Amino acid sequence: MDACAPIGVFDSGVGGLSVLREIRTLLPGETLHYVADSGHAPYGDKTPAYVQARAEALVQALLAQGCKAVVVACNTVTGLSIRPLRERFPDTPIVAIEPAVKPAAARTRSGVVGVLATQNTVRSPGLARLISEHAQGVRVLPQACPGWVERVERGDMGSPETEAAVQAHVAPLLQQGADTLVLGCTHYPFLRGAIERVAGPGVAVLDPAAAVARELARRLDALGLRCPATHGETHFWSSGDLDRARQVMGLLWGQ
Ligand code: DGL
Repeated sequence: MDACAPIGVFDSGVGGLSVLREIRTLLPGETLHYVADSGHAPYGDKTPAYVQARAEALVQALLAQGCKAVVVACNTVTGLSIRPLRERFPDTPIVAIEPAVKPAAARTRSGVVGVLATQNTVRSPGLARLISEHAQGVRVLPQACPGWVERVERGDMGSPETEAAVQAHVAPLLQQGADTLVLGCTHYPFLRGAIERVAGPGVAVLDPAAAVARELARRLDALGLRCPATHGETHFWSSGDLDRARQVMGLLWGQ
């Protein structure tokens, strides 16, 4: 495998750009292909079989572009189907995001952690395993946030309706004593401003995106697949409406 082959990154939509920007910063020499599956978003309320089939199709498409590694920038895919995905592509290094339950459990002082995520992630075996393995003695409150993904897909991060939707799902966690909130969906970092306004300065908001970029760098180094170039291109793909994709991805990416 060519060390300067591209890296593929995918999500159900534009949310994975919150992971892509950390990868871009940490690995400036790599060529990156980002796929937003916005034509099939949200994944959060689809069946596990549907999500798994989409994930397999996207990995296949990225491998057809010659990718040397794939990053799953979607907690819902990780929670529902990371094991079958790795079994299906045993020769591909696959790095996957998952909710930052472990750091949250280590950090909380109140002993209460809120996990903001999609309906599917809240119900997933992956989240149940994370909680039982890493959050013993901590009260973890998984909170589904229906509608948040669609808001970010529309580029609506700051309307009064979005602020109200954030308030509706964050306030109950604070009332139950949460002092640490986990962003368990890659769309949610784009709502961070609204989340922090509701949560206030005493509550930590954790996003594992930078840790995913570090894990990717570690895997590439271990495999001798780090590209020595100084500047890599970034390519954007979408299965959704392309005018909308250009507008919203441009807004979130900053160019
Ligand atoms: N960004 C995806 C995640 O991290 C959102 C899934 C969805 O489309 O509902 O879970």
